[in-house]
Amino acid sequence: MNIYHLSMECYPVAKVGGLADVVGALPKYQNKVEGINAKVVMPWYNKPFVWEQEFEIVFDGFIHQSHHMFQVQVMKEKSNALGFELYLVKIPGLLDRDNPYGYWDESQQFLAFQHGVLHWLSAMQIRPDVLHCHDYHTGLVPFMIENCPDFQFLKGVKTIGTIHNGEYQGQMRWSMAQYMPWFDSWKGGLLDWGGYINPLATMIKCCHAFNAVSSGYMEELFYNFRGLESLVWQEKGKAHGIINGIDLDVWNPETDPMLDFNYNKSSASEGKWHNKQALCLEYGLNPDLPLFSFIGRFANEKGADLIPEIAKNAIEQTQGGINIMILGSGDKAIENRLREMNHVYVNLSIDLGYKEYLSHKIYASSDFLLMPSRVEPCGLNQMYAMRYGTVPVVRYTGGLRDTVQDVTSGGAGLNFKNAGVEDCVHAIHRAREIFWNKDYLQNLINSNMNFDFSWDKSAENYLNLYRN
Ligand code: ADP
Ligand code: GLC
Repeated sequence: MNIYHLSMECYPVAKVGGLADVVGALPKYQNKVEGINAKVVMPWYNKPFVWEQEFEIVFDGFIHQSHHMFQVQVMKEKSNALGFELYLVKIPGLLDRDNPYGYWDESQQFLAFQHGVLHWLSAMQIRPDVLHCHDYHTGLVPFMIENCPDFQFLKGVKTIGTIHNGEYQGQMRWSMAQYMPWFDSWKGGLLDWGGYINPLATMIKCCHAFNAVSSGYMEELFYNFRGLESLVWQEKGKAHGIINGIDLDVWNPETDPMLDFNYNKSSASEGKWHNKQALCLEYGLNPDLPLFSFIGRFANEKGADLIPEIAKNAIEQTQGGINIMILGSGDKAIENRLREMNHVYVNLSIDLGYKEYLSHKIYASSDFLLMPSRVEPCGLNQMYAMRYGTVPVVRYTGGLRDTVQDVTSGGAGLNFKNAGVEDCVHAIHRAREIFWNKDYLQNLINSNMNFDFSWDKSAENYLNLYRN
């Protein structure tokens, strides 16, 4: 079975968040199954991985967007170093940039990517068995292959759409239709939602099956989907929930090259302590106190706006009895507030940026990981934390509901109900008590490190979805 994963991100080529981790791992696990050839197709980026690996050009052609003609080159990474075939689509002027997102013309970029991929597959007469579209950036593919005469060759190919985050739908004005490959205009209704072109809505309407990245989140989408609720009800028969896994090769405290000290289940307490000492020394924190961390994008859905108040209240209420370490970036108001607080509270340390190596160190060093998310389709941080023996303290929502059970119901983490400062601080007080009960904490660490979050089962669930 030939599967093409279409995505804007893939670790370690280009990563902004969990999408990259998923696309960098899922095909590798799918390829363990005999008869499966899962590949990744993504835009070309100006990134170290791309400079360092060898590529060969497997396709050179042209596409038209409105009145402009663009060159399209598809490059294949020669050695399959990632455990799957990797193809990069380069379109000078549109897909030749430093990062996946944040450009004024990104709608046009995403359209060009989808157009370029389908042009390549059609021209090469490569007929995939499955096109697996990740998020709205590739959500128009199921529409295009059915309704654009240029891609007649691909008509009928099975399409799966994965919703990693329903908060982002790629809505654009109808004038953007000029950048699409020519399509039967009487099918235009499939592109429309509320008077705009909505790629995520189109994906749901036109794909053969779609899924959210956890069952918990899939259930929530029926009631809270930024205006697409009625659409999921309508397309209910195609809806699935498949939880993400984690890449156990990359996220292994025993071999992780980014850690100061490696450890396994039996050396966890010592290993974590050494890592914690090193991190606390570097960031001026007292290693004897419980260390709570937050890692993530400073976005509303992550509850990042609550973090400054949570930190302030928790530090003040415990009279400096805890440490808080924050790694992230995004909303400038949150960054500025944290900078100010960093001067006031010795128990708070911040690092404002995107640092892959530091995230690994923090997962290993922390006692607790905070996730006050308002919306969390799956969340990988809590799974990385657990794998590294760190106790997750999470809001009970989406994928966090599916992966973190509270200690009071036999789980190995802490849940709180409302995405608010008070509930989270209350959970921090509970966690602090656990920290000082060393045997109890050790049991939780062991339980967390014993969880099986590997991709094996979910990779199989995706294969079953394709087969169906
Ligand atoms: P999302 O994709 O919504 O951001 P996930 O929990 O699925 O959330 O995945 C986030 C991923 O990004 C994890 O691998 C996490 O470690 C990583 N990450 C987030 N922020 C940072 C940062 N500032 N530095 C390094 N890694 C980060
Ligand atoms: C999105 C979600 C996150 C999920 C990730 C990978 O970015 O916000 O919860 O883990 O995709 O599926």
